[in-house]
Amino acid sequence: MPKIVIAIDGYSSCGKSTTAKAVAAKMGYGYIDTGAMYRAVTLFFLQERVSFSNKKEIEAALDRIHITFKHNARTGKNETCLNGLNVEEEIRKMYISNLVSEVSAIPEVRWAMVAQQQKMGRRRGLVMDGRDIGTKVFPNAEIKVFMTAETYIRAKRRQQELLAKGELVGLEEIIKNIEKRDLIDTTRSESPLVQAPDAILLDTSHMTIEEQVDWVIELADRRLAEL
Ligand code: DC
Repeated sequence: MPKIVIAIDGYSSCGKSTTAKAVAAKMGYGYIDTGAMYRAVTLFFLQERVSFSNKKEIEAALDRIHITFKHNARTGKNETCLNGLNVEEEIRKMYISNLVSEVSAIPEVRWAMVAQQQKMGRRRGLVMDGRDIGTKVFPNAEIKVFMTAETYIRAKRRQQELLAKGELVGLEEIIKNIEKRDLIDTTRSESPLVQAPDAILLDTSHMTIEEQVDWVIELADRRLAEL
């Protein structure tokens, strides 16, 4: 059976990661959450007080960042490690969400991350989710999905996620954060968030995670049958 790359792009809180993770598990594929990589870079920049506008500082800092994913057998989750340290919990916090779009819009940051992501996908057999996977990282991906959902529904989902981790955040603050991130992500000069012409649109507003997973699996099965 040939192995393919499945690129899942789209807006935040549409269920991209949850869907991508489940699809990867069902297919026996690897899974890479590229948003986690930008979040880890943001955390490092904050810890090291790197100025977001100083190219020299940024380049030097990027040289000192090593991001890996460690499988946690107990939770079944892939956890993000920054220079060997598990930062999975920290990078999901609101203060990182508030700054990550700014950091991920820095061209030097994107070049470094895209290069790492392309290396990770060399063996194929991979589901990768993000904002520019189908347009920039793997323009030749066999399957490209572009996810969207209504802002209010995305905010409600995000609120539930944060609550499950013990962080209580008001809906208004979340909507503001989502709208701000959408604006930065779609208007940045370096690989903005845009639907690839050959990506299939999936509006998840009224879908369950199971339905989303089945939808992608069906797409993959059909594509695999053609190869
Ligand atoms: O998927 P996420 O919400 O964890 O992503 C965090 C941020 O990283 C998001 O605001 C946009 C950015 N991002 C990106 O620019 N390119 C990617 N491939 C993945 C994420």
